[in-house]
Amino acid sequence: MSKIALISGANRGLGLETARQLGRDHGFTVLLGARDEAKGVAAQDELRGEGLDAHFIALDVTDEDSVAKAARFIGQEYGLLDVLVNNAGIMLEHSFKVGGVDLETWKQTFDVNVFGAVALTNATLPLLEKSDEPRVVNLSAILGSLTEISKPQMKTWIRASYSASKAALNAYTIALAQEKSADPKWKINAAHPGWAKTDMGGPQALMSAAQGVKTVVQLATLGKEGPSGGFFHVSKTINW
Ligand SMILES: NC(=O)c1ccc[n+]([C@@H]2O[C@H](COP(=O)([O-])OP(=O)(O)OC[C@H]3O[C@@H](n4cnc5c(N)ncnc54)[C@H](OP(=O)(O)O)[C@@H]3O)[C@@H](O)[C@H]2O)c1
Repeated sequence: MSKIALISGANRGLGLETARQLGRDHGFTVLLGARDEAKGVAAQDELRGEGLDAHFIALDVTDEDSVAKAARFIGQEYGLLDVLVNNAGIMLEHSFKVGGVDLETWKQTFDVNVFGAVALTNATLPLLEKSDEPRVVNLSAILGSLTEISKPQMKTWIRASYSASKAALNAYTIALAQEKSADPKWKINAAHPGWAKTDMGGPQALMSAAQGVKTVVQLATLGKEGPSGGFFHVSKTINW
């Protein structure tokens, strides 16, 4: 039987491309979490047109009922989950400013990028526990590395609420990996995809979406000897 992967925010961008590569190159059944049904079904149909076993699942990571329903459905339909990719994310700031970023922007950003990932992970942990090789990949960013954003040349790249949300997600990644570290079957890591051409990354980004998800796919398909509790970009460790 194929392994099962759930990807949040899979209707476009890096989420859709992650689903494509996991399905096409690794034979996964891919569950496409999307908050908009029409967009989710369109993504599902696109991947099915490429011969993949793809299924849309209604999933707004900021809505507890939606998260609970998605997890319940996966349990009923598949009985377990092998891979969770916490990909859904937003960046509402478009320039470097700190004091000018209003509280609502901070709340919305944390709601999706941090609390959304925590909620979905909490809801799916019992299903992941049933897998022989559970993998959790959290889509972080170089802008969430405290080491990197402390460098003077990074100043104008910082997006205060976004960077803080990804740093929080990194801390969560470490905490969860530490909790599961007694059982080596778990591999829980954070990925920096690189600056990739998506709606978020923009057309001037240096990598294609297909290149951007290489790190994500690597971490989702780690073997038994693979790392856990790390922050990676194409096999290289990034400092937290
Ligand atoms: N692109 C880059 O250069 C880059 C670099 C570093 C890290 N990342 C990270 O990689 C991840 C994917 O980024 P991307 O570039 O693919 O972004 P994107 O093109 O803007 O796509 C974001 C995805 O997240 C979904 N989403 C947003 N809020 C959601 C919610 N409440 N519930 C469920 N889904 C939600 C969006 O759905 P809708 O279509 O419904 O809005 C969309 O599918 C993000 O976590 C981002 O921070 C990206």
